Amino acid sequence: MFFNTHETFGLISRILHWTMALLILSLLALGLTIADMEPSLDSLWLYGLHKSLGFVALILVLLRLVWHRISPPPHPLGDPAALPQRLARGAHRVIYALLVIIPMAGWVGSSATGLDTVLFNTLTLPPIAPVSEAWETTAFTVHWATTWTLMGVLGLHIAGAFARAIKGDNTLERMISGS
Ligand code: HEM
Ligand code: HEM
Repeated sequence: MFFNTHETFGLISRILHWTMALLILSLLALGLTIADMEPSLDSLWLYGLHKSLGFVALILVLLRLVWHRISPPPHPLGDPAALPQRLARGAHRVIYALLVIIPMAGWVGSSATGLDTVLFNTLTLPPIAPVSEAWETTAFTVHWATTWTLMGVLGLHIAGAFARAIKGDNTLERMISGS
């Protein structure tokens, strides 16, 4: 039930997938909202919320990578050597890599501003970069470019999932119900 098998996603992988899907789509929307605003005392809490949820996303992706070492995900349905299956696997790897780089770049950029990065108004993260305008600009440029790349890859990922569901293969179903 909890573990993945050769054919199915267990409960832990499914809960991680859908929690992260919701979290990442919210973070993308929240990120675009704050990037469009003038920073002010009124909007500070939105930055705090974005940083807090972004850090939760980093923890979840690391947990998910560890979990997939313990309980490897199922083989893709159909021929694993066929192009769509290989593209889907490539996309998953790119998504995992981006989900580590994006929050780390956010953390570096936030450290470089010299302001404390406080999660959920309680936990202060240690700074991981010197206070420097050059670091800040570079890190947020990386954050911006990688988030837009993620939006593109996720667009293909979601379109691919629905295309396979319409074709009648069980890929989406097994990520929802596990079988
Ligand atoms: C409506 C949105 C989404 C749908 C319908 C969807 C659907 C799916 C399905 C069906 C699979 C299983 C693929 C397979 O068996 O080969 C999958 C895997 C995956 N999805 Fe999504 N997904 C969605 C959103 C997201 C989002 C937002 C993320 C980013 C956090 C994401 C990241 C992943 C990753 C990394 C895998 C690979 C799991 C593994 O390691 O095997 N998905 N998705
Ligand atoms: C997976 C996690 C994350 C996602 C998907 C994400 C997404 C985004 C997006 C889409 C933007 C807008 C980019 C733009 O158009 O300029 C943004 C901005 C921002 N992010 Fe994140 N983010 C994540 C994690 C973090 C973390 C962990 C931090 C800090 C600890 C952070 C700090 C910021 C800040 C300060 C901005 C505003 C930058 C500016 O004003 O130009 N983000 N984020």
